[in-house]
Amino acid sequence: MKTRRIGPYSVGAVSVGAMRLSIEGRPGREQAVQTIHAALDAGANMIDTAYGYRIPGEPEAHNHRLIRQALETWEGGDSTAVVVATKGGHLRAAEDRPGRWSQNGHPDHLKLVAEWSLGDLGVEALDLYYYHRPDLNVPYADSAGALKDLYDAGLIKAAGVSNVNPDQLRIAHEVLGDALVVVQNHFSPAHRASDAVLELSGELGLAFIPYHSAGGLAAPDGPARFGAFHRIAAERQITVQRLALAWQLALGDHVVTIPGTSRPASILDSLKAADDALSPAELAALNADVWPAESA
Ligand SMILES: NC(=O)c1ccc[n+]([C@@H]2O[C@H](COP(=O)([O-])OP(=O)(O)OC[C@H]3O[C@@H](n4cnc5c(N)ncnc54)[C@H](OP(=O)(O)O)[C@@H]3O)[C@@H](O)[C@H]2O)c1
Repeated sequence: MKTRRIGPYSVGAVSVGAMRLSIEGRPGREQAVQTIHAALDAGANMIDTAYGYRIPGEPEAHNHRLIRQALETWEGGDSTAVVVATKGGHLRAAEDRPGRWSQNGHPDHLKLVAEWSLGDLGVEALDLYYYHRPDLNVPYADSAGALKDLYDAGLIKAAGVSNVNPDQLRIAHEVLGDALVVVQNHFSPAHRASDAVLELSGELGLAFIPYHSAGGLAAPDGPARFGAFHRIAAERQITVQRLALAWQLALGDHVVTIPGTSRPASILDSLKAADDALSPAELAALNADVWPAESA
């Protein structure tokens, strides 16, 4: 599979988004483990998770424990070489209403979540730790400073930020320096508010990870809203989700994708996008099909 760099890591251009294995509608444990094993068997080497990926009120860090179990039971290779990227600061606490998320960007909290994550994942240092979503009650530099302290203490090997605007990204870059390696934002054909962050990430030498990659494409009105995506997917005889990933990878060499999955078939399909090469004519048609950034 084609690989790309995230700081010190060479990862598959398509990696595994694990959130849907732990939130509402999640599959049973066996299918969840099989889904991760199928992805690793097919060559994926990065799993994206977060402390908050659980059903509200659930006491344990469901996604972390699941990933640990999947890695410990995988017989296809060296599971210690798999990059596990996690996040702190975005929570689903017992008091949250179903579906609601809350933010806590206090430095002490971000450090505590990192410590809990070390225990749940069973590692001495986190491969990659993101500040998940800005808490507007805490100066962004203070939250980023917590990640710098964790990095300097050797508890995280690299840092990331998520759901940021360009100003927040610049602050994080200034505070974290070389420890900052990646940005993760909502970005899809229907959601282009992060165009500027995609560009700035490249300028700063950071990887950019879009999430909800296929947002809207597979909806009932998808073919009407995104005609070129559906036409080209049909011509290539591939799924529109896979085409969306291939399109995102073509936006820059610094892009790495993390499609969501709750079953082996969908992640195995998504992983094929890493090696899809789109022609200039196809790219032009897709770029003309996405919603303008100002309307996203
Ligand atoms: N940083 C953040 O704030 C943030 C927020 C949200 C998500 N994320 C991360 O981004 C990842 C992706 O986001 P997401 O979970 O919302 O998922 P997504 O990529 O938007 O995918 C949603 C669903 O689409 C289906 N799908 C994806 N690729 C497919 C394919 N090739 N063929 C058929 N169906 C396909 C899957 O269905 P099945 O369930 O049927 O397999 C998947 O669950 C998450 O897992 C998480 O790690 C980060």
